[in-house]
Amino acid sequence: MSDMFLTLPEAPGPIGVFDSGYGGLTILRQIRQLMPAYDYLYLGDNARAPYGAHSFEVVYEFTRQAVETLFARGCHLVVLACNTASAKALRTIQQNDLARLDPSRRVLGVIRPTVEIVGELTRSRHVGVLATAGTVNSHSYELEIHKLFPDITVSQMACPMWVPLVENYEYDSPGADYFVRKRIEGILRTDPAIDTLLLACTHYPLLMNKILKYTPPGVRVVPQGEYVASSLKDYLRRHTDMDARCTRRGTCHYLTTEAADKFSENASLFMHERCEAERIRF
Ligand code: DGL
Repeated sequence: MSDMFLTLPEAPGPIGVFDSGYGGLTILRQIRQLMPAYDYLYLGDNARAPYGAHSFEVVYEFTRQAVETLFARGCHLVVLACNTASAKALRTIQQNDLARLDPSRRVLGVIRPTVEIVGELTRSRHVGVLATAGTVNSHSYELEIHKLFPDITVSQMACPMWVPLVENYEYDSPGADYFVRKRIEGILRTDPAIDTLLLACTHYPLLMNKILKYTPPGVRVVPQGEYVASSLKDYLRRHTDMDARCTRRGTCHYLTTEAADKFSENASLFMHERCEAERIRF
């Protein structure tokens, strides 16, 4: 998409939800449950997922393309339902690109709403963050948690195989057990006082059955969807100008950079409803 000639539609439009692949559907599901009246446009960059091991520069470039696409399709508000993109691209997009594209549009991430609730969840004040290598190396969770809760000890663990298991629809297979167990045991060995494990990648709730299987009792596993959804609702309540620019017909459409039929098939299984997708090219 050309930066110079991007003309954006002015009319109100759907709320954009972006992820590298299928993971953002775990966030979309919670948002739609909480706010079913709005229209949504989901974009999964499945052809280029996973983002986890890519450099800052590449994740920023891919995420910027996705945001521009969603803006061009009428979204005034976009949620980066991806921790890797939130960690590596959100700030630059907010600070540099919005001014050029349209300063009245907004892009929100998933890290802040998740971090805000951590203080209420942990009693031991020892928290584990399970995430992609990109999110772990950005140290975003550690930094943000320590800003709000300096007394909390944060341990991180990259789980590089977890996103490919989901993207390849292997998240319920017997082979997934090995990779899930290894990382859960690994992080709890790093800090046995952990009582809260944050699933800081939107793909991970799709591995929930396996994650719970290897998490000892007394350790709470926390997916982010619920917190991101309530934070978005609160945002729209506080920003009535933006709320007025989000249409409400209760629809949900899907865009993917992969083959449309493959996305539709997998997304329908994740969302428990028919999800017709359109393939796009950047
Ligand atoms: N779902 C993503 C996240 O929340 C991205 C995973 C990836 O593409 O590596 O981090």
